[in-house]
Amino acid sequence: MPTPLPVKTSHVRLLDVRRDLLPVADLIETCFSATLDQDGRDYLRHIRKAAADPALVRWLPGRGERASTPLFGYVWEQDGRLVGNLSLIPIYKGGRWVYMIANVAVHPDYRRRGIARELTLRALEHIRQHRVQTAWLQVRDDNAAAYHLYQSIGFIERSRRSTWMAPPSAQCDPLPGVQVTPRRAEDWPLQLKWLNELYPLETTWNMSFNAARFSPHWLNQLWQWLNGDQQMHWSARKGGNGSGPAQLLGVISWEPVRGYSDMLWAATSPEDENEALPALLPHAQRALLPRRRPVSVNYPYGRAMSAFLDCGFSLQNTLIWMEYRCN
Ligand SMILES: CC(C)(COP(=O)(O)OP(=O)(O)OC[C@H]1O[C@@H](n2cnc3c(N)ncnc32)[C@H](O)[C@@H]1OP(=O)(O)O)[C@@H](O)C(=O)NCCC(=O)NCCS
Repeated sequence: MPTPLPVKTSHVRLLDVRRDLLPVADLIETCFSATLDQDGRDYLRHIRKAAADPALVRWLPGRGERASTPLFGYVWEQDGRLVGNLSLIPIYKGGRWVYMIANVAVHPDYRRRGIARELTLRALEHIRQHRVQTAWLQVRDDNAAAYHLYQSIGFIERSRRSTWMAPPSAQCDPLPGVQVTPRRAEDWPLQLKWLNELYPLETTWNMSFNAARFSPHWLNQLWQWLNGDQQMHWSARKGGNGSGPAQLLGVISWEPVRGYSDMLWAATSPEDENEALPALLPHAQRALLPRRRPVSVNYPYGRAMSAFLDCGFSLQNTLIWMEYRCN
């Protein structure tokens, strides 16, 4: 166990793409080895690829942080080694700028000396200097060390989100009386309401998600056709056989995303999700089988767990969104 050293802020400096990319990739790999998934490995491969691109490495310095994203942030150098890293990602969404803090990592030989705290404080200072009010980050629910670190600095927990993933297959049987059809235009107002409830802005900073893109309006459809965008939507209903109009239980949507798995976006209510998801998930999985990719769903922690498990999904992780407001 190394003896704690007094912290010197002079160890903190801006990341320099000309020399830091490879040591940063190595540090992230060392620090996150236990939890690195396929997307994480792809991310590291991209950093290493960027490091090997002399044109990029020559072009980036001096272009500003927005051009440099996601290769921007602060590092901690000590004893001639890069032993700490923090990435800063400016994001414009919902009509305002926020920053995301990511990849906070300190080499195991240098932990509990206040390095992560100092890097985070420096990042918050950066955010204030750029007149941005809010910083967000995500931390795994089993990472007590990092959670305490952020909490002690003033970050506040806002939500917990689980990622469920299933291999390319379709396992569960819908409950009797629930029918799945392609989405109808009349389903959109409820779908939009449920999407806004299930995926509020505060939980999608780092995602390409935009509910408006799913609108069935002809202008939106035309725009997608012109862009070659693909989407599929299915609705689940029950009743409607002489017992009054059928009740919409939920809608599920797919559009291609970069990354290891296909993403599905669920729109349903807490009252109906346990009927809607067992019908919608296998239907969407069956339609996506030819793509031979795993399927994942981001969902509020603790909700519809048995529906996901029964459909062959397993819990990949639960991430806590934390917010810091600069005043
Ligand atoms: C989490 C991590 C970045 C902390 O780095 P660090 O430089 O050791 O942290 P600091 O010394 O600045 O600790 C600041 C505070 O965090 C908390 N903390 C840090 N490590 C802790 C641990 N192992 N157990 C409990 N609390 C811990 C404490 O509140 C600590 O304050 P204290 O030392 O006064 O008690 C480091 O352990 C790491 O790289 N972990 C692997 C990668 C990771 O999980 N990153 C976070 C992703 S969200």
